[in-house]
Amino acid sequence: MPKGTVSILGLGAMGSAVAARLRETGHDTTVWNRTPAKARPHVEAGSAHAATVAEAAAASDLVVTVLLDHAAVREHLDPVADHLAGKTLVNLTTTTTPNEARSTAAGAAAHGIGYLDGAVMAVPAMIGDTARLLHSGDHHAFTTAEPALKALGTAEYQGADAGLAALKTVLPSKTRRSSRACTSCSPASSRPRPS
Ligand SMILES: NC(=O)c1ccc[n+]([C@@H]2O[C@H](COP(=O)([O-])OP(=O)(O)OC[C@H]3O[C@@H](n4cnc5c(N)ncnc54)[C@H](OP(=O)(O)O)[C@@H]3O)[C@@H](O)[C@H]2O)c1
Repeated sequence: MPKGTVSILGLGAMGSAVAARLRETGHDTTVWNRTPAKARPHVEAGSAHAATVAEAAAASDLVVTVLLDHAAVREHLDPVADHLAGKTLVNLTTTTTPNEARSTAAGAAAHGIGYLDGAVMAVPAMIGDTARLLHSGDHHAFTTAEPALKALGTAEYQGADAGLAALKTVLPSKTRRSSRACTSCSPASSRPRPS
């Protein structure tokens, strides 16, 4: 019996690993990729194919983006934002800055989308095994997506500031340790904080 429906947008190296793992763990998956040929192996393995982002957005209440960067996410999701209202969007784009994550989160909130930013601290082969995933943003979105996220690796919630997951990926580990006490600071008072 399917565990839930998930639409995965982006079937590069990481998106393919995410889609395969969700499918293998019993999720009902719909996939979309800009270059449609990359969807073929997923469809052969049991995923449904969305020809458009709008179709992918309509297919599931949980949408996971694994595109290269936030610019690509905004390019493709902004036009269908109204269709995502009330749904949960988990953006696993890891090539980002805290402020890009906050900006995408603000855009999602303006459309009533539950937005969770994610940082994948792993290579694709580690998905479903030893992958560590950091998340920040809307807590309700986290609890909604958590069962699916746990299929991918650890699902570690960092806090309501959507930029926190990205922040943890850019801070050197020594600074990261000393910044723990700072996760509840106002953005203006926590330094250093790259933009
Ligand atoms: N690979 C890793 O080891 C790794 C580890 C941790 C985190 N990540 C994160 O995972 C995300 C994806 O990385 P990846 O390794 O899967 O990269 P990838 O193999 O190069 O795949 C990139 C994906 O983004 C899509 N894309 C790029 N620009 C686009 C645009 N303007 N519009 C629509 N789609 C676009 C590509 O679509 P096309 O197929 O059409 O080009 C493809 O699906 C990145 O944010 C990266 O930081 C990757």
